[in-house]
Amino acid sequence: MRVRVAKKSDKEVLKFCTNTFEWGDNIDQVWDVWSADPHGKLYVVRSKNNNFPVAISHGTVCSGNRQIWVEGIRVHPAHRRKKIATALIAKTLQYGMRQGAIEASAVVATNNIGSRLMLEKNGFNVSLDGYITQVPSDPIV
Ligand SMILES: CC(C)(COP(=O)(O)OP(=O)(O)OC[C@H]1O[C@@H](n2cnc3c(N)ncnc32)[C@H](O)[C@@H]1OP(=O)(O)O)[C@@H](O)C(=O)NCCC(=O)NCCS
Repeated sequence: MRVRVAKKSDKEVLKFCTNTFEWGDNIDQVWDVWSADPHGKLYVVRSKNNNFPVAISHGTVCSGNRQIWVEGIRVHPAHRRKKIATALIAKTLQYGMRQGAIEASAVVATNNIGSRLMLEKNGFNVSLDGYITQVPSDPIV
């Protein structure tokens, strides 16, 4: 499999990034930002059979280049358990290390067991359990 930086034409990946989670998906909202990220890489994997994009992920360096933030891993349901996410993470970590990163982080929902196990298999450990909330649309005064 070949992991490479996404091109404009890879945007057709959005076709399978729609019902990923109960709430849908957000890749359509972040694709343009991620593909133009000067501090990161949006990677894609295409199918050997029909050349259709079957997986993506984004990594961006932060904390003064000391950390690589891994996000947006999506593997087409028909192509899971073929180590595609593993390959995307490896490529992202290589990129991060070239920039000087010494640590990689990701956030995953507690109930996303498959993703948690996949991250653990790739060397990640749980470091923080927390709560998030939506920022109110009206400013609090
Ligand atoms: C989670 C996801 C990215 C995994 O992608 P993948 O390419 O299938 O993962 P890999 O093949 O690299 O998995 C490597 C290892 O992780 C573990 N793993 C991966 N998916 C798993 C699952 N659903 N259940 C249990 N373990 C899993 C296994 O140990 C696996 O090795 P094995 O197949 O030899 O047992 C994919 O299922 C997906 O796109 N899910 C929906 C989107 C998502 O949750 N993204 C992550 C958001 S944080």
